[in-house]
Amino acid sequence: MGKILTIAMPKGRIFEEAAGLLRQAGYQLPEEFDDSRKLIIDVPEENLRFILAKPMDVTTYVEHGVADAGIAGKDVMLEEERDVYEVLDLKISRCHLAVACLPHTGHSGVAPRVATKYPNVASSYFREQGEQVEMIKLNGSIELAPLIGLADRIVDIVSTGQTLRENGLVETEKICDITSRLIVNPVSYRMKDEVIDEMASRLSLIVEGDKTK
Ligand code: PRP
Repeated sequence: MGKILTIAMPKGRIFEEAAGLLRQAGYQLPEEFDDSRKLIIDVPEENLRFILAKPMDVTTYVEHGVADAGIAGKDVMLEEERDVYEVLDLKISRCHLAVACLPHTGHSGVAPRVATKYPNVASSYFREQGEQVEMIKLNGSIELAPLIGLADRIVDIVSTGQTLRENGLVETEKICDITSRLIVNPVSYRMKDEVIDEMASRLSLIVEGDKTK
């Protein structure tokens, strides 16, 4: 029996693509993987244990070593700046971080209020732009903030653009592109380098093999 690898998987929209990628790479994942409410799923045949975490928390589990590896969005990595290795760009869950606001939002003269789930990324972006802003941290439904007068702008993920469109907001600046990454705890990487390298190379074959992505 080989070493068990514990992997933190992000629940929600990344999950399906990430699970699909692992299956394409040849990992036999049980059906319960997709629709169970379980938070820990063991796959002994593959020497894998999955923990299902909130996307924002994946880097925390991996940094603390309770998960050897994880799948995390670059947005989370930029925001959290955790001590983890990024070993592979999985090129899934493509989206971008952007600034958006209601059309014709003018300058009021005072520091604009920016609502976001990403206060660190947003702060450093506006600092680089030489603009002083007031940050308002929210945990979701960020697009609501300008609609009800809580903020002048938002910094958030844009994927299809549907949420912006349906709420009458316009993107004004793109901050950066985002994809999901395979991340690894540095100590785990020393102790379990063979299994981690094997997983990374199997995933890499799929990622690099599909040039349409
Ligand atoms: C994300 C993001 C946007 C939306 C963008 O929210 O924060 O609100 O998706 O996707 P779109 O461009 O395809 O419309 P999510 O659905 O993860 O929920 P949240 O608002 O609770 O963060």
